[in-house]
Amino acid sequence: MPRYLRKDYRGPADLREMQTLAQRLWSQVSRWHLGELAWRRFQHVGREPEWRTALWELDGQPVAWAWADESGKLDLQLDPAHLALADEILSWSGKSTVTLLDAEKELADVLLRRGYEQRTGGPFFVHLARDLADLPSPSLPAGYTLRAVRDERDAGARAAVHAAAFSPSRVTAESYLQVMAAWPYRPELDWLVESEEGEPVAFCLVWLDEVNQVAVLEPVGTDPGHRRRGLATAAVLGALHAARQLGARAARVCARGDDDYPSARATYESIGFRHYARNVTFAPQDRP
Ligand SMILES: CC(C)(COP(=O)(O)OP(=O)(O)OC[C@H]1O[C@@H](n2cnc3c(N)ncnc32)[C@H](O)[C@@H]1OP(=O)(O)O)[C@@H](O)C(=O)NCCC(=O)NCCS
Repeated sequence: MPRYLRKDYRGPADLREMQTLAQRLWSQVSRWHLGELAWRRFQHVGREPEWRTALWELDGQPVAWAWADESGKLDLQLDPAHLALADEILSWSGKSTVTLLDAEKELADVLLRRGYEQRTGGPFFVHLARDLADLPSPSLPAGYTLRAVRDERDAGARAAVHAAAFSPSRVTAESYLQVMAAWPYRPELDWLVESEEGEPVAFCLVWLDEVNQVAVLEPVGTDPGHRRRGLATAAVLGALHAARQLGARAARVCARGDDDYPSARATYESIGFRHYARNVTFAPQDRP
C-alpha cells in the first residue's frame, strides 16, 4: 500500500485541492463538479463546525477527499486508481450513510463488502446533461428583463431572490459574498431575471470548469409569485450562452429524481437536459 498522507480540512486552500481532484476526475462517472463543491461549502455561513472534512494525498497530489456532516452523512471522491484507500476513508468516517453516483460501481462493491446496504425509496438526485451546441436564445414575457450580476453590489438582491425561491433558506448577503469570493465564481455566469419594478425574481448561477469545458447549474430558482412564466428557463439560457462564450461545450445539473419533487427535473428536461446517472445511498446495516 502506498504511503497516503491524510490531512484535516483547514480552509479554502484545501477546498481548492478538492476542486483540483474533481477537475482531474471529471467524467460521466464522476459525481462532483468543482462548482458544486464551492457552492456547498460557501452557500451558508457558520456551517464549518458541523462538518468533518479530510483529504488524502500521495506525493503531494490529492487522490481523495471525504466530507462528513453531523447528521451522519458522508460524501466522498476517490480516484479509482487508489481504491485501496476506500477502507481507510470509511473507517475515518465512522458509521455514516454514504452517497455515490450509480456508476461508481467499484466503490459500491467496497461498501457492500463492508456490510452496507443500498437504500431503496425516499428522495434521490439524478444527474442531467445537455450539449451546448444547439442552445435556444432566451425569451421573456413582457415586463421582465434578463442580465448578469454586475459585482458584489448585487449580493444582497441575489441572496434575497434565492431565499424567496428556496424558502426557508440560510443564504444571506453575507454568505452570498462568500460564494462570490470562491474560485471559480464569475459574475458574468450568474444570471438574474428582474421584474418591471427592477426586483430580481429568478436566477441561475453557472460554474465553469474550463479544463473539461463543462458548466454546472447550481443553483436555479424562481420567486413563487412568478413561476411558470418561463423565467427560470430564461435565466438558465442566459447563463449557458455566457458559459458557451467562455468555452463550455456541455452542461450538467442535478435535480430530485423522485416523484415527490418533480418541478426542477421537469424544468431542466424542458430545456433539453437528459438524465444520464443518479445518486445512490448506502447505509451501514445496523443503522435505521
Ligand atoms: C424549479 C423552478 C426553478 C422552475 O422555475 P419556473 O420559472 O417556474 O420555470 P419555467 O417557467 O421556466 O418552467 C419551464 C417548464 O418547466 C416545466 N415545469 C416547471 N415547473 C413545473 C412544475 N411545478 N410541474 C411540472 N412542470 C414544471 C414545465 O414544462 C414548464 O413549462 P410550462 O410552464 O410551459 O409548462 C421553480 O419551481 C423553483 O424555484 N423551485 C424551487 C427551487 C428549486 O427547486 N430549484 C431547482 C433546484 S436547484
